Amino acid sequence: METLISIRNLTFAYDRREIFKDFSFEFQAGQRTGLVGSNGSGKSTLLQLIMGLLKPSAGEIELFGKLCRSENDFREARLQIGFVFQDANDQLFCPTVGDDLAFGPLNMGKTMAEADAMVDETLELLNLSSFKERVTYGLSDGEKKLVAMGTALAMKPKALILDEPTTCLDEEACDRIAKVLMDCGLPYLVVAHDRDFLDRVVTNAIRLKDGQIVPEPLRAPNARTGNQAA
Ligand SMILES: Nc1ncnc2c1ncn2[C@@H]1O[C@H](COP(=O)(O)OP(=O)(O)OP(=O)(O)O)[C@@H](O)[C@H]1O
Ligand SMILES: [Mg+2]
Repeated sequence: METLISIRNLTFAYDRREIFKDFSFEFQAGQRTGLVGSNGSGKSTLLQLIMGLLKPSAGEIELFGKLCRSENDFREARLQIGFVFQDANDQLFCPTVGDDLAFGPLNMGKTMAEADAMVDETLELLNLSSFKERVTYGLSDGEKKLVAMGTALAMKPKALILDEPTTCLDEEACDRIAKVLMDCGLPYLVVAHDRDFLDRVVTNAIRLKDGQIVPEPLRAPNARTGNQAA
């Protein structure tokens, strides 16, 4: 099976606080993996390293089989990975929801008309069609989170990396995101503290502990994903 993400012997520190040392990790096509860990264990840091938004001091990151060293390498890979930031305010920067969703497709070289069609399709999928002209800045936290999910999906990525996609969401919106994920046909790596949600949408889970990956049993079998409870 194709390796989508390969991290080898990575070291990363904020100032002098070391978060990862000689850290290795692999993520394969077809996997739907939950990433859990205590607050501050480094989950968001790991996802941002994968996306090339933080730079390791040592080690290698390979995405879709290509070693990513320069910002250009990561930029190319980022066009294929839909990423949801933990804080939607880090993700959304355009005046309107429609603009935010169109940004990715336009960046990929789509025409205005093509991008617009991708935006409409994604908004409909998320039950957000009435949001297209809304001013992003004025949305509630939950609405922003849904729009952030939209920006990740609108690009028609090959994989998703999601940092707590359901924070601030009500039960109905959570269910919608779960359904969108289960139906999307994409591999994904998802961080969530909500174990009910997580165990519904993933086929395996891992835990980040003391800067290393340890296995994490799933808590309930899931008919849709066929996950394996321990
Ligand atoms: N910009 C930063 N500068 C300095 N330290 C940081 C920075 N960002 C994160 N940290 C620290 O790095 C550690 C890992 O943070 P990270 O955000 O990756 O944790 P997390 O597992 O995502 O936590 P949570 O579950 O709360 O989201 C924490 O101790 C945090 O305080
Ligand atoms: Mg985090």
